[in-house]
Amino acid sequence: MVRKICCIGAGYVGGPTMAMIALKCPQIEVVVVDISEARIAAWNSDELPIYEPGLNEVVIAARGRNLFFSTDVKKHVAEADVVFVSVNTPTKTTGIGAGKAADLAYWESAARTIAAVSTSNKIIVEKSTVPVRTAEAIEKVLTRNCSNPDVSFHILSNPEFLAEGTAMKDLEFPDRVLIGGRIETEAGRNAVATLKAVYENWVPPERVITANLWSAELSKLAANAFLAQRISSINAMSALCEATGADVSQVAFAIGKDSRIGPKFLNSSVGFGGSCFQKEILNLVYICESLGLQEVADYWRSVVGINDYQKDRFVRRVISGMFNTVRGKKITVLGFAFKKDTGDTRETPAIEVCRGLIADGAKVTVFDPQVKPDQVSYELSCEKFAWDHPKLGPSPGDPMQHVTCAEEVYAACAESHALCVITEWDMFKTLDYQKVYDSMVKPAFIFDGRNILDHEHLRSIGFIVYCIGKPVDPFLLSTMS
Ligand code: UDX
Ligand code: ADP
Repeated sequence: MVRKICCIGAGYVGGPTMAMIALKCPQIEVVVVDISEARIAAWNSDELPIYEPGLNEVVIAARGRNLFFSTDVKKHVAEADVVFVSVNTPTKTTGIGAGKAADLAYWESAARTIAAVSTSNKIIVEKSTVPVRTAEAIEKVLTRNCSNPDVSFHILSNPEFLAEGTAMKDLEFPDRVLIGGRIETEAGRNAVATLKAVYENWVPPERVITANLWSAELSKLAANAFLAQRISSINAMSALCEATGADVSQVAFAIGKDSRIGPKFLNSSVGFGGSCFQKEILNLVYICESLGLQEVADYWRSVVGINDYQKDRFVRRVISGMFNTVRGKKITVLGFAFKKDTGDTRETPAIEVCRGLIADGAKVTVFDPQVKPDQVSYELSCEKFAWDHPKLGPSPGDPMQHVTCAEEVYAACAESHALCVITEWDMFKTLDYQKVYDSMVKPAFIFDGRNILDHEHLRSIGFIVYCIGKPVDPFLLSTMS
């Protein structure tokens, strides 16, 4: 029976996941630990470190009862029966595999801590996404570094499939919970059964599926690669639609009606972002290359390639549509988060859009209801892949020289030459666009990178409108090179 769970890493995955376990399993003490004092202090405060609909309520219900946040990593790891590891796994920035392979330094350090402080048997659960066969490597670190010969570790892979913005719903009603373990041995099967029993406090048993360790690890990379591949496929179609006068929404609707394809993840956009898709595909690419599977690696790399193309294509549309120059023009970027209902900005397409516009001389104003100015500044100053390495930090120079962050959306739009919708926040759908139009420089442009606005209404007001994958406005056709 599990009495105490400790989770190393109080981030986007560890925090919400443990909050849900604590809520649903009041008999288990759940402690989330982190080396970052600021993060733990925020989890213990009224202003949680991440914005996620429904999270506040769950934390308030369980915190202080059987959910705790602490920086005392050693104590709580030592006391736990089950240790989840949910630390960051950034892409390597230097050395072999730079720009593709996962940097497991944080994982390894967590494993060394577990080994050093353990005096009782433990189940170690891989929660952060890791390359296939990480469990095997971690097992070696654990067993070789633990001084107590009577202590045994059982490694499980329990990848998290929650999506940000809907994390609490995904955790409460998951499509499936996947537990990978050494099911070829009795001890391995027992460890799997122990974790399965925790989830079965609220997840129907048929939704808790088991697999061998490596299949579970690979399933996480594969699921994200498949999802991202759908987005890149529809985004590739969007370019073709614009060139031919077809409408990508109609194409997506028509193909989504095929029950074999299904309607989800077919929203054409300025490009996918987030901490998972690109990172995990590049990981997959690296694994394939390491195994000599170059064609497979090239196939998956092209999913990221189309995503880069889509972001670049959007910026080129903005610049060419506005008479081939945005120099000195105020352009308002509506939304900086990588998707709605989150304040997360990791790998957000807004970074490339802002950089592209700044490079052409624009004066960029950013408005996002959940992203603070220092976060915008951090993202715009980080080197590629550096965002997930807390120690690397931003590079020198002031990225905010050409960027302003606005607190109020109408003030953000006033005197702009163009608006670029980058995040699909609901509030952007219901703005008073007549008021916005009246306050803008004419001709007033809207580039809808999410296809969420009422384009006909905007055109009737007088806006020049560009939307992804739809027939291009005659005005824009005449200006585009
Ligand atoms: C993803 C996976 O969905 C989740 O299962 C995994 O655990 C982590 O990675 P997340 O990155 O949080 O979750 O969000 P997701 O909803 O998948 O969106 C990722 C990106 O794709 C966002 O930038 C989103 O705007 C974009 N997207 C999504 C599209 O452009 N079009 C779509 O149709 C769907
Ligand atoms: P994710 O999105 O996967 O949850 P985050 O970057 O949001 O990733 O969170 C990872 C957390 O793990 C960070 O808060 C970081 O401080 C923490 N962390 C990294 N290494 C360790 C470690 N060795 N011990 C404790 N916490 C760690």
